[in-house]
Amino acid sequence: MSLRKAGQDSHGQDSSYFLGWQEYEKNPYHPIQNPMGIIQMGLAENQLSFDLLKLWLRRNPDIVGLKKNGASLFRELALFQDYHGLPALKNELVEFMEKTRGSEMKFAPEKLVLTAGATPANEILVFCLADPGEAFILPTPYYPGFNRDLKWRTGVEIVPMQCSSSNGFRITSSALEQAYQQAQKMNLNVKGVLVTNPSNPLGITMTRSELNHLVDFAIHKNIHIVSDEIYSGTVFASPKFVSITGVLKERNSDNNIWNRIHIVYSLSKDLGIPGFRVGMIYSNNERVVSAATKMSSFGLVSSQTQYLVANLLMDKKFTSKYMEETQRRLKRRKEMLVCGLRNAGIQCLKSNAGLFCWVDMRHLLTSATFEAEKELWIKILYHVGLNISPGSSFHCCEPGWFRLCFANMSEDTLKVAMQRMKAFTHSTTFLLKAS
Ligand SMILES: Cc1ncc(COP(=O)(O)O)c(C=O)c1O
Repeated sequence: MSLRKAGQDSHGQDSSYFLGWQEYEKNPYHPIQNPMGIIQMGLAENQLSFDLLKLWLRRNPDIVGLKKNGASLFRELALFQDYHGLPALKNELVEFMEKTRGSEMKFAPEKLVLTAGATPANEILVFCLADPGEAFILPTPYYPGFNRDLKWRTGVEIVPMQCSSSNGFRITSSALEQAYQQAQKMNLNVKGVLVTNPSNPLGITMTRSELNHLVDFAIHKNIHIVSDEIYSGTVFASPKFVSITGVLKERNSDNNIWNRIHIVYSLSKDLGIPGFRVGMIYSNNERVVSAATKMSSFGLVSSQTQYLVANLLMDKKFTSKYMEETQRRLKRRKEMLVCGLRNAGIQCLKSNAGLFCWVDMRHLLTSATFEAEKELWIKILYHVGLNISPGSSFHCCEPGWFRLCFANMSEDTLKVAMQRMKAFTHSTTFLLKAS
């Protein structure tokens, strides 16, 4: 990659999504030291069960100290460099994936490729499945990082698929077909569709019917499906999470389509450990697994981390309790946010997963345009002191939607954020009415 390419904006760090973070860093809220500062609601981080993780670490000093039965494993781990990863970790990860999917599917460790988070997992899959100038269809709104992860170094294009509020931003066959036609008009060869299930930023799980539309489409067009399931363990209310693999199993699908379905997963969100960089690709396609394993050399998970995480996941009693408790806390937080916003006269898309809500502020825009959305976003950032993420940074096609994260702060901070929002909307509604 040349310096020219590295400097190009397709990395995305100049978008409002990242600019809001910079403003937050200059003036971060603190209840005592900086009570007028900006509250960070643009960060999809899960910090709700840190106490449980810390307790586990305290109770397992040997593992933290890289010991087994009292003997040091330092030398073994420091020298370990097999890019296939520690078998113990891979075994635990497949079991963890099975559990999140209701144990109805069997996953095999040899079909799993370890990566340093979901970020390289997505990029590696795109490198494996498409050549520069080819394309992937992505339902909008989508995670802003995908411009960097899928396009920046691969030279692959993203064709946005328009989803709208009229059906709760659900995937339809006609929207898929429309995106495909759009790609053809642009002379782009479509290699696949990439979905995020549960969705970032919508906070909803895909329905069986959506997943079936997607599989029908992939069969019909002879293309791949990448399912980024990084939020699969955050589902805190019904309906339950259904993975694309569950739908394939129900349909009794043949190998042909199984070979074109690839799952991306990571522990960044479900376990709340994004700094550990533990991610993976899971695929039935032997060629993809083999090529992705070779590419994973550029972003391996350190053996120290692999050892720690393998042992954490081996403690089934702990992980069950952790997941259950985290989902309970997420649900409570989400309800606090929805209720706080309702008091401020703002509605959210009904959600059942994720670390955020998709919030409808169309009534607060001075006009139904993206300029007005940006205007509102700037006002909320500088005058209200909340860093939230505008829908345009997720490529949403309707102005006025925003993503608000709720799991990266304390309950008290969330309360302050909601009070600020209420004060703001009351004054804004008054002004909008008066003008
Ligand atoms: C949908 C989605 N995919 C991938 C990532 C990147 O995850 P990781 O930290 O594991 O690289 C994120 C992070 O926000 C995300 O929301």
